[in-house]
Amino acid sequence: MKTIRLDILSGDYKQNIEKAADILRSGGIVGVPTETVYGLAASALDDNAIKNVFSAKGRPQDNPLIVHIDSIEMLEKVASDIPKSAYLCAERFWPGPFTMVLKKTSLIATSVSGGLDSVAVRMPSEKSIRDIISVGNLPLAAPSANISGAPSPTSYTHVLNDLDGKIDACVLGNDCTVGVESTVVSLLGEHPRLLRPGAVTLEELKEVLPDIVVDDAILSEPKSDEKVASPGMKYKHYAPKTESYLVEGDTNSYCQFVNTKLNCLALCFSEDEQYITVNKMVYGTRLNEQTLAKNVFSALRDIDKLGVDAVYIHAPSKSGVGLAVYNRLIRASAFRVIKL
Ligand code: TXA
Ligand code: MG
Repeated sequence: MKTIRLDILSGDYKQNIEKAADILRSGGIVGVPTETVYGLAASALDDNAIKNVFSAKGRPQDNPLIVHIDSIEMLEKVASDIPKSAYLCAERFWPGPFTMVLKKTSLIATSVSGGLDSVAVRMPSEKSIRDIISVGNLPLAAPSANISGAPSPTSYTHVLNDLDGKIDACVLGNDCTVGVESTVVSLLGEHPRLLRPGAVTLEELKEVLPDIVVDDAILSEPKSDEKVASPGMKYKHYAPKTESYLVEGDTNSYCQFVNTKLNCLALCFSEDEQYITVNKMVYGTRLNEQTLAKNVFSALRDIDKLGVDAVYIHAPSKSGVGLAVYNRLIRASAFRVIKL
């Protein structure tokens, strides 16, 4: 299939947004920008379109998708028995990089939730996807627009590298400003549960949900037969083909360590750069974890182009947005952590 380019940067914005909404309304699948990562969108009401999303990505069918909405009105159409805490979270964190898991309504296509009776819902802050939802008056199910297992796409070029020819269209918009996927919180159990860390931090969540608990799967390796609260966490994720290690340590010990390695890459902080004598790639500053979040996936995509035997990634702190970056990197490194 030929993937139509819908250029909203140098082309006609309104016309291309309408075209995207049309394609989605008629059952097509479209790459769309969001503030976190690019999504591969389909109508959340159309079982067949959702199945095409799973097959374009090569995604396991039991890993459910996030439904994107543009209003509280739409929230109330896709979720039922919405607790008061959900409205408090919506007020504080929406629109933005925050997803909540609620009880689903029958409006949502069964394949969206992989057979669960819950639905994950998010109101993105990126204007273009919100406009597409509004113009189509359609909630959009959208996983990240990458081949399953690959690093998430933070630019339309990443989307086309993975999915050109496999999807009906791709909206060519801005690079993602956040760079890691949304924070996912389940509001279904006795206590709210953080299932995936993101740019809305645990510290911020505690202000609205003081009794929130953190799912063990965030930082530990899932057992193959374990029943996990968020099915996405049991799959191998984000991994470059190059063998990767996550290295915890200060500037000094990290740089000394990597400098002894042969044919390797140091994926490091700008603070490390001047002390490193092997191949290096900077992914941000340790003083501002948002810079690390913004660059981490495109760095992971670039590693395999270098032909090195191994990559040693300098681990961020686990506080603030650092927790989200650490969570992605420990998966990219297949849980190989070196503590110096
Ligand atoms: O930022 C984001 O959330 C991006 C953009 C496109 O919005 N989307 C995204 O989708 O990251 P995806 O499919 O790559 O990740 C969805 C995550 C998975 O870990 C999945 O298991 C979890 O959300 N999830 C979805 N529905 C769920 C449900 N009903 N219960 C528990 N976890 C759910
Ligand atoms: Mg994903």
